[in-house]
Amino acid sequence: MPLQIIVGAQWGDEGKGRIVDWFAAQGDFSARYNGGDNAGHTVTVGSRIFKLHLIPSGIIHPQIVAILGNGMVVNPHTLFDEMDMLRQAGISVSPERLRLSYAAHLITPAHQALDKALEAARGKGNLGTTGRGIGPAYTDKTTRRGLRLADMLAPDFCERIGDHVAEANRTLSMLGAPGLDPAPVCEQYREFAGRLKSHIADTSLELHAALQAGKTVLAEGAQGTLLDIDFGTYPFVTSSSTTAPGALTGLGLGLDAARDARVIGVVKAFQTRVGSGPFPTEVFDDLALRLRGTGEHPWDEYGTTTGRPRRVGWLDGVLLKYAIRINGIRELAVTKLDILSGLKSLQLCTAYRRDGKLFTDLPFGPADLSPYEPVYEELHGWREDVSAVRTWADLPPAAKTYLERLTGLAGVPVRLVSVGPEREQIVNHP
Ligand code: GDP
Ligand code: IMO
Ligand code: MG
Repeated sequence: MPLQIIVGAQWGDEGKGRIVDWFAAQGDFSARYNGGDNAGHTVTVGSRIFKLHLIPSGIIHPQIVAILGNGMVVNPHTLFDEMDMLRQAGISVSPERLRLSYAAHLITPAHQALDKALEAARGKGNLGTTGRGIGPAYTDKTTRRGLRLADMLAPDFCERIGDHVAEANRTLSMLGAPGLDPAPVCEQYREFAGRLKSHIADTSLELHAALQAGKTVLAEGAQGTLLDIDFGTYPFVTSSSTTAPGALTGLGLGLDAARDARVIGVVKAFQTRVGSGPFPTEVFDDLALRLRGTGEHPWDEYGTTTGRPRRVGWLDGVLLKYAIRINGIRELAVTKLDILSGLKSLQLCTAYRRDGKLFTDLPFGPADLSPYEPVYEELHGWREDVSAVRTWADLPPAAKTYLERLTGLAGVPVRLVSVGPEREQIVNHP
């Protein structure tokens, strides 16, 4: 299947990196289409744990060409750190392997300062952003004063960076935050431009040619459906199109590429969220600690980018059904099933109740979930450790029932079940 879109079906951190890495073994191109270094995608290969913020998760496989698409916002500082980390692990990030769209936007220290100042100004009602400058960079993009990667090649780039910092300083001053000295930013970005030049390309053209030649392109979503700028729990969302259609605009692909696309939704076996915003199935106290973990394992629920503890809860079938529709998901990859082992019973949210009425679809999407109360179906838990299970037949009966119920709610099949972070800890359910 030429275009495969791997998209988060919840609030991010579903395990997209881990699933992309699995598909990338058979892939040719691995491409990120949205967001920036607010993302944190983890790939575990034996004792090595790769935390990728910008570079697509397929990069670990040597035959892959990695693409940062036009829909992204790129902080070169993070990019160079990540390139160094990969080089040290013996993974090539040569210009032939790592291609950046000329139309992707740049993130600068001024965007980061604005992100933090805006969050401070929101006070208690803050969004809980990652502080990476994502919102301000997309704001500059939509107000048409952003800096694109191609601008790094222009002779007046330094001047333009200077104007950008001066403009940001006016807003920072209105917010009561200190401004930035443009000179060191210009200097640093001029140096970045020299190092990035050979990676900048028309990646839309390259992906188009690849698809025409029958190559497999893996489009990797960052964040998740419920953080999408249009379809998420607005305003508690990120600033990009995280959903599967965003893969087309974010990579410069036309609708012909979508015709045969395989859309895989990644869903964690329970629900998590980091940052502010509604979360109807959230749990607290001992159960929350049990689902989150204490931080002793690398997979415990603490943000890959910010280290913040993630909020946790029961799987929300109403929001999953919504994600299936908005993305056109045709199959699911369920992750972290192993974490549910040992729980006596499980709750699965199958509907919402409001004023005595049941809802499985919401009149205005997930924008305002506060009037709704989740309706749960209780299912048996299982005692067995599933982390060594490799076939569907070997899963405990209660685990199969849980996955089948989830399939029933979603209306699409579960194709993959991840039972641990390592490459081989996966059950393929063809
Ligand atoms: P992403 O942002 O969607 O790529 O997900 P993150 O990497 O932020 O968070 C997922 C975390 O869960 C990472 O630490 C993964 O290594 C880990 N992980 C992924 N799948 C599994 C699984 O099936 N079981 C366990 N225990 N950990 C997993
Ligand atoms: P991955 O790709 C989970 C959340 C932030 C905040 C909101 C807006 O690893 O799944 P932003 O910095 O984007 O303006 O913050 O979005 N957020 C994520 N939550 N996983 C992510 O990425 C996230 N990227 C942003 O916590 O609530
Ligand atoms: Mg993550």
